[in-house]
Amino acid sequence: MSFLSKTLERVKPSPTIAITAMAAELKAAGRDVIGLSAGEPDFDTPQNIKDAAVAAIAAGKTKYTAPDGIIELKQAICAKFERENGLSYQPAQVSVGTGGKQTLYNALMATLNPGDEVIIPAPYWVSYPDMVLLAGGTPVAVEASLETDFKLTPEQLEAAITPKTKWFIFNSPSNPSGAGYSRTELKALTDVLMRHPHVWVMSDDMYEHLVFDGFEFATPAQVEPGLYERTLTCNGVSKGYAMTGWRIGYAAGPQHLIAAMRKVQSQSTSNPSSISQWAAVEALNGPQDFLGPNNVAFKRRRDLVVAALNAIDGMTCPTPEGAFYVYPSIKGLIGKTTPKGTVIEDDKAFATALLAEADVAVVFGAAFGLSPNFRVSYATSDEALTEACARIAAFCASLT
Ligand SMILES: Cc1ncc(COP(=O)(O)O)c(C=O)c1O
Repeated sequence: MSFLSKTLERVKPSPTIAITAMAAELKAAGRDVIGLSAGEPDFDTPQNIKDAAVAAIAAGKTKYTAPDGIIELKQAICAKFERENGLSYQPAQVSVGTGGKQTLYNALMATLNPGDEVIIPAPYWVSYPDMVLLAGGTPVAVEASLETDFKLTPEQLEAAITPKTKWFIFNSPSNPSGAGYSRTELKALTDVLMRHPHVWVMSDDMYEHLVFDGFEFATPAQVEPGLYERTLTCNGVSKGYAMTGWRIGYAAGPQHLIAAMRKVQSQSTSNPSSISQWAAVEALNGPQDFLGPNNVAFKRRRDLVVAALNAIDGMTCPTPEGAFYVYPSIKGLIGKTTPKGTVIEDDKAFATALLAEADVAVVFGAAFGLSPNFRVSYATSDEALTEACARIAAFCASLT
């Protein structure tokens, strides 16, 4: 009899976390590694949010709360959806979890039965397929191509839907490509979904606030009100508010789904940290003016990285609309050999050799379901990015 569960055997550990840990180890051993693998902003949490947390501690707001969030935070979330997305939700339609990850996981746990399929456009955030597997479902990855800037076409979505499809996971702007769907592009997808009433939509809007060049963010239930009754709109404070460590994510949708998610959470982790919840109330209700300067810095870094990578022979890097990632293709480098004799057979070999021979940590594309590519997180200083791009360029030039 196996000690570990059969379900867990199907799941891989997160490769982004593994690479970040490997880079940290090399750094600790004295190597001058530049890490471009972590998925978090390098900015600090705004002071007013930290102050709200300190005030919550001082006021003794340090006890258990309702399992899926305090009413004050649910109200702040409803106000946010109304103000920013034109979506009307009541607090009973809102679930707050320990990070966006938990709310997505709860929804999958609450709804998937063996055989249920979940459509996931690739490249995808590494956790989607494994969360689906943990919840007992079947992930169905559909590869979006470089030619469509990593965006799924309506034809691809239509072709992937079967009678077993339960969810379509939509993520814009995307981790790992940064691709953001315009309202028109999204409407083309929601038109397909309107023809398949058994398919639910899980929209992961985590990078909503990180958009550039006037890109207008849109979310499925807003673009197609006909989908409101079968859409879970997911979001969180981790990325936009630079609050990754505080662990607050949230989702809104039909009340019966939210109640089922509450059941999962109440029998697993119970409420997210009471102090973080009060900080999130301030994040959503307080001033939003830090978002502008943060995005100016992110856009400058995006432009720097895209230009530097596109100047490399054998590499192609589309310019994404948002998030803080780019996802260059290394098609032109496959088959070459490094000075130390490693053959670049695939993107994993590329990323491994880049770390070992050029001290730059990136995540290989296979982890995100689309190869041959790699992901650069540009949430680091301009100086570090300039140096990292110079090292990547020198490494690629050294390949024969
Ligand atoms: C697309 C996407 N969704 C959700 C999450 C989870 O965010 P959190 O840190 O709030 O759990 C991440 C984090 O990397 C992400 O990239």
